[in-house]
Amino acid sequence: MRDAPSDLVEAARAARRVVVLTGAGMSAESGIPTFRGTRSGLWERFDPMALASPSGWAADPELVWGWYLWRVGLVRAAQPNAGHVALAQWARSAPVRVVTQNVDDLHERAGSADVVHLHGSIMAFRCSECGAPYDSGLVVAAAAAASGRPALQVAPPRCRECTSGVVRPGVVWFGESLPLGAFEAAVAAVEEADLVLVVGTSGLVHPAAQLPMVARQVGAFVAEINPEPTQTSGLAHEVWRSTAASAIPALVHTLWTPPCKDTPLEGF
Ligand code: OAD
Repeated sequence: MRDAPSDLVEAARAARRVVVLTGAGMSAESGIPTFRGTRSGLWERFDPMALASPSGWAADPELVWGWYLWRVGLVRAAQPNAGHVALAQWARSAPVRVVTQNVDDLHERAGSADVVHLHGSIMAFRCSECGAPYDSGLVVAAAAAASGRPALQVAPPRCRECTSGVVRPGVVWFGESLPLGAFEAAVAAVEEADLVLVVGTSGLVHPAAQLPMVARQVGAFVAEINPEPTQTSGLAHEVWRSTAASAIPALVHTLWTPPCKDTPLEGF
């Protein structure tokens, strides 16, 4: 386990409020693929416009629904990793808020209570016409019954309220607005923060990608945890080339270790 960078530790010890902005890399070590950045990134294998846009949904809802059932199955099978767990532990002793672009529920399952989901939730479903929520248990059962293949075509269920609309995933697709108030809540949290830790995001998708810049503008210390260079690297005060499941536990462990006193040795 590599030691946490000393200026990050110092900033974390001094911070009155911390925001941790997470992306797909946060859940990579739980077995959930990222979208970009590796050869196994989802957008290397699948067309985002066909699977994650209103036009893709209109063109082929069975394809989109089958793909989301596959992803629901992946998330259900995944467990929070050591990074999720360490963040939740940290938040029990310090004012740490999580702002995530992830649609999985691994932060919550690790015990984080204060989580803003910028891109919705893969476990929330709603009617594409009347907006009524749909029982996620029924979708989870359908995902379990599906073959576990990503390219299966499955007809989405009908809404039980209006009976005319079909049910869609409750995630934000390209070209759609963020959930009401989510970005505003994220900006407000960042504006109050002394430390903004950016973990596992390529920083390519807006408006989430603006948050590290907002942090710089309000004078917060910005640190990045990511094994690869990203759009955020250039504006971060500290870049830690490590992974979420290694670096966050190492940081939290260091924070819980009393700082050693550099007592000068006299007479030598
Ligand atoms: P990306 O897939 O764009 O980026 C993932 C980042 O995680 C990359 O920078 C990787 O280097 C890094 N990474 C990989 N493994 C890691 C690990 N173990 N620890 C830490 N970092 C690691 O994911 P996001 O930036 O989250 O939107 O993508 C933003 C949005 O684009 C997603 O929310 C999704 C996607 O299209 C929607 O679905 C609306």
